This record gives sequence, C-alpha cells and structure tokens, in this order.
Amino acid sequence: MGKHGMSTLVDTYGRTHRNLRVSLTDRCSLRCTYCMPHDFAAWLPNEELLSTDELLTIIEVAVQQGIDEVRLTGGEPLLRPDIVEIVERIAGIENAPRLTLTTNGIRLPDLAGPLAKAGLNRINVSLDTLSRERFKTLTYRDRFDDVILGLKAANAAGLFPIKVNAVLLKDINDDEAPAILEWALENEYSLRFIEQMPLDAGGIWDRATLITADEIYAALSTRYTLTPVDNRGSSPAEEFYINGSSATVGIIGSVTRPFCGACDRIRLTSDGQLRSCLFSNVETDLRRVLRDESLNSATKKQEIAARFQKTVISKLPGHGINDPTFIAPIRPMSAIGG
Ligand SMILES: C[S@@+](CC[C@H](N)C(=O)[O-])C[C@H]1O[C@@H](n2cnc3c(N)ncnc32)[C@H](O)[C@@H]1O
Repeated sequence: MGKHGMSTLVDTYGRTHRNLRVSLTDRCSLRCTYCMPHDFAAWLPNEELLSTDELLTIIEVAVQQGIDEVRLTGGEPLLRPDIVEIVERIAGIENAPRLTLTTNGIRLPDLAGPLAKAGLNRINVSLDTLSRERFKTLTYRDRFDDVILGLKAANAAGLFPIKVNAVLLKDINDDEAPAILEWALENEYSLRFIEQMPLDAGGIWDRATLITADEIYAALSTRYTLTPVDNRGSSPAEEFYINGSSATVGIIGSVTRPFCGACDRIRLTSDGQLRSCLFSNVETDLRRVLRDESLNSATKKQEIAARFQKTVISKLPGHGINDPTFIAPIRPMSAIGG
C-alpha cells in the first residue's frame, strides 16, 4: 500500500520489498568487460521492449503494492529517447516513489538539467578509473572525458548527492582505489566500490582474480582511516566514515559479504520480465499480461499485482553465488538491469 502505508510485498523470509529496479533498455554506449561481451549483438527487438505507457502501468501497480523507490537503469537508461518524459510521468503518479537513476554519465551534459526539472531525485554515475587509457581498455570506448563532463553537469543540475560506482578488476585498475577515493572526496562525490559479480555473460568472471571487499578495504586503509557507519538497513553497501569526518565511502561485497538477508529489491527487465534477484533464473512475464487483448485494464492491473506477489513469494533466501551448484544467469547484467 504505497509510500504511506504497509507494503504487501513481503516474502517467506520476512523481507519487505520497497525498491524496484527498472531496466529501460538493454543497449549501452559502453562495453564494460565485466558487464557484457564487447562484441555482444543479441539486442532485444524494439517491439519486445515495454512502451512508456506499459512501464507506467507496472510502476503504478508496484507503488500500490508498497514500492517506494524506483531506480531507472539498463543497459544505459539515458539512451531511451523519451527518458525525460518517463521521469516526469513517474514523478507525477499518485504517491510517487523516490526516483533515482544509474548511468554511465555520457549523455548527462544534455540531460542532467531536464531530468532534475522532470523530478529525478538522485543519480548514480559509474566510473571505474581516472585514466583515459584504462577507461578505453575497460569499456572499449574512448568516452572518459564525456563521463567527467556528465558528472559536472549532474553537479550543476543539483542532483545531490552524486554517487559514483566503481568496479575494480585485477591488473587493470585495482591499484586505483585510494586515488579514486581522493578524487571523489575532492569533488564531493559519494563513492561506492562494487565487487565484480558473475554477470558478464561472456564468462570472464573468475573467483581467483576477484578483488574482494576485504582487499578494497585494505587498499583504502593504506591512505585513509575508515570507521564503520552503523544502521546499514537494506543498503547493499557497507559504509565507512573517512578520517573521522562525515564523508563516507561504501563497499558492496556482493560475492564475499552477501547482504541478501536484508534485500528489499525486485527487478523489471526492459522486456517486461519481473525477477526477484539479479541472479534469478526464473522470470515472471508482465508484458504478456499487458498485451493480452482479452483482458480489460482493471483485470490487467490485478494480474500484474498478483504476479508481483508471486515473484516475491518465490524469492530464495540468497543469491547462491557461493553454492557449488550456482549457475550464472544467461542474460548479461546489461539485459537484466544493474
Ligand atoms: C549495468 S550498469 C547499468 C547502468 C549504466 N549503464 C551504468 O553504467 O551505470 C549498472 C551498474 O552495474 C555495474 N555492473 C555491471 N556489471 C557488473 C558486474 N559483473 N559486477 C558488478 N557490477 C557490475 C556497473 O558498474 C554499473 O555501476
């Protein structure tokens, strides 16, 4: 029951779901090696993507079920041509959820202002290195300067606090943790390091070369004194105060320090499939309901609500990455929505 009441999205382990991650497209302007194969071409056909009306119907139902935060992601959400309209329409629904967006930042110079005006509450920008050359190696695109301009545009548009996500890869950028933190502090960005997860669909993930949360903590500790912040709640990041100040840095140990016990997230793919977890191998089809011409609008909404319940009820206690029987999802992260 929306922002002002009880959520009905409670799973069998007592976890209440309030956060919906919505992938707006599986396409991206970068090819981050840990996210999708650089020659990936199995894009979803346009007609399989949810239309903006379909998306809005699902989000309205989700809010009525207790979702109070929507994070727009992808692929690259700013590649969606009507992104400003999408934000404006979500911000305009009854009991509007808190609205955030995760982006590679490249289109922010044009879009940060319009997005802020349309009602976007906050932004996460992904940046893994401060080196233009390394950026090119990591993403297969020479767009480092555009990301920096994008961050500046987010700042000018007042989309505070600006969060920066960084993934560290062995022998590529794992020596940069303290330098990236120093840069983030100088620019007043709120930095979070994310452990690399097995979601690249190209099979490059290897536990043996994983830069772990403990290693990231140790690297940062060579230059900074970190003090744990209490009250983590459902946040995936363990936050630390830096040098006794109020500034913090987060470490998301998805693999080695899983936080599934407090997970409050569900995910909608750009082709209208609901997932209870990034690593789920089961999806519930909402697009089929929306496009079923035998159903009227009220029945469609009831059925979508029922499918939200079914997805949450079937959620497993953990992501299972560390189980011997773990099978990585077939879709790359870019297609699920990060
Ligand atoms: C999939 S991207 C989508 C949004 C947008 N294109 C961006 O670059 O932020 C969202 C986040 O997922 C992270 N990500 C992608 N693949 C990952 C993986 N295998 N392990 C950990 N994080 C990953 C990215 O670094 C990024 O911060």
